[in-house]
Parts: sequence; C-alpha cells; structure tokens
Amino acid sequence: MRLDTFSHVDFQAELDGVADDICPHLTKGKVATYIPALASQRADAFAIALTTLRGETFAAGEGDTPFSIQSVSKVFSLVLALEMGGEDLWARVGREPSGSPFNSVVQLEKEEGRPRNPFINAGAIVVADTIISHCGASQGIDRLTDFIHTCAASKSIAVNAEVAASEAAYGDRNRALAYFMKSFGIVQNDVPEVLDTYFRQCALEMSVKQLARAGLFLAGGGQDPCAGRRITSHERVDRVNSIMMLCGHYDRSGEFAFRVGLAGKSGVGGGILAVIPDVGTVAVWSPGLNEAGNSLAGTLALEMLSDRVGLNLF
Ligand code: DON
Repeated sequence: MRLDTFSHVDFQAELDGVADDICPHLTKGKVATYIPALASQRADAFAIALTTLRGETFAAGEGDTPFSIQSVSKVFSLVLALEMGGEDLWARVGREPSGSPFNSVVQLEKEEGRPRNPFINAGAIVVADTIISHCGASQGIDRLTDFIHTCAASKSIAVNAEVAASEAAYGDRNRALAYFMKSFGIVQNDVPEVLDTYFRQCALEMSVKQLARAGLFLAGGGQDPCAGRRITSHERVDRVNSIMMLCGHYDRSGEFAFRVGLAGKSGVGGGILAVIPDVGTVAVWSPGLNEAGNSLAGTLALEMLSDRVGLNLF
C-alpha cells in the first residue's frame, strides 16, 4: 500500500464516523477485573487515532486520555530485546500462534518451557528476561521506557505505580509461568526481578495519539520518518509485524486478521495498535473486552475503518 493511494480520503471524517457508529457497542464488552486497578475503567470510554508517515495525526473521542497499554507493550519490549540481543532470542521463544488464552500454561509442559510466541504472557516474560540480561534488573523498565520515549518522540509516558502494584499483587499465574520456564532454563534471571520489569511494562500508560505515534516505525520499515530516526531494521520490522498479524490477539488472532486485515496488538486495558505498512498506524482504546481479553468495540472500530477506507492488506 502507498500513502498516496489515500490522498482522496478524509481521515478525520472517517474517524468521526467510526466514533459515532461505535457508540451502541461500547458497553457490550467487560472491563478486565482480574487486576483490580483496571476494574475502575469506564466501559464506555472510546478513543481512536491515526498517524500517517507524513506525521499528520487525526483523532476522535478521548484522544489525549492515558490508559494502561498492558500487552501492547509487548511489541516495544520485543523490538528492544531484539535490538539488544539479536536473533538468539528465538532459541527461547517461538513464532507460532498459540491458539490458547494469553495466560495459558498448557503448552509449556509439552514444549519444554519454550513459549509459542513473544505476545502471550510466557513469551513476554522471556522477552523481559532477555532485556534484564543485557542491562541489569534495576535498569530493565528504564531502558524500555526510554525506548518508548524515543519511538513516541515524547517523554510524557510513564508507569502507573498503582497498576504495577496491582499486577504484582494478583500476578500468581505469571509467577507460575515464570518459575516453570526457569526450571527448563528458558528464564535465566531471578524470577521476582524479571516479573518486576514485566509488571511495570504492562502498567505503562499512553494515549491513543501517543501510541499511534510510538508505533509509526512499524509502518515505516523501521524508520521514524517524522524524527528522521532509524529505530530498527526493515527486516526486523517486517518480522515483528508478521508476528503481530499471527499472534497479536491470542486465540482471536485469526478472527482479527479476518475482520481487520492488519497486523495488530491488543492489551487488557482495551488498547489496540494496528499497523498499515507504508501508510501509518491506528491506535484505538475501549476498555470493554471480549472473552479473549481483546477490546470488543476497539476491534469493531478497526473493522469499520478498514472496510470503509480499504485498509485490509489483502
Ligand atoms: O500479564 C497480565 O496479566 C497483564 N498484565 C497483561 C496481559 C494483557 O494485556 C494480555 N492481554 N490481552
């Protein structure tokens, strides 16, 4: 796809139309309650932002409201871990869709502690482990936050300490996953230190405008065209986008690809980042989730936009 192809499209009008049409669907999903600090989110909140490779940003709804990015952080931590340690990561994490819930334990025993992909919890914990192997446990979250500041060209993105504490207080499933992987030598550092980084990364907060901006390098072949900065290589971005397409929505990844036709990554805070290669990014936020833990109205909003503007990659 090329950005010029969309020169006739009034993106602002399209986003406004989606924001209007999504209203009846906003309360159909259920806000995540397994992390108590997330349970207080308003189910009817909605925001959508689109940033193009020319640096124009269009938004509708609550475009400046920060929300908990949760598993959307796994895209940024994956790119950072690959930048730090290169392709060795793939010896410890796969690239296959799991077809299982994001916090599932079942595949790990059969597959000797090697998670199916970096976007389920087990895989993201291995990614966090890789990051702290390279910079030390005390630096892990700072390195990731700095990396996201660079990608977003903004320093006003931070961890919500209350959400991070709530993740830790209710994180026994993640502890089980991490200790199990450590027993196979897949996790290499001290589990509480690895999880401290993982819990904090999930508690990072961004608005949809910041998220769309931060993901722009994924649409730009690794280059942030606005800052004129290379974030990572073209090959690496192509691969990360491929994994987002196949694994970004857990056991609904096929459904997302079918309905939206873009690489995307969701989080239980209700955020989704979607990539339109060579065109731009779309970030959406609506806290009501479907049974798989993906934003119900957010997915539908992306489907509407994709259908109306013709964004499906295929
Ligand atoms: O590990 C957890 O439980 C969460 N903090 C992150 C999960 C998440 O966003 C998975 N998503 N859909």
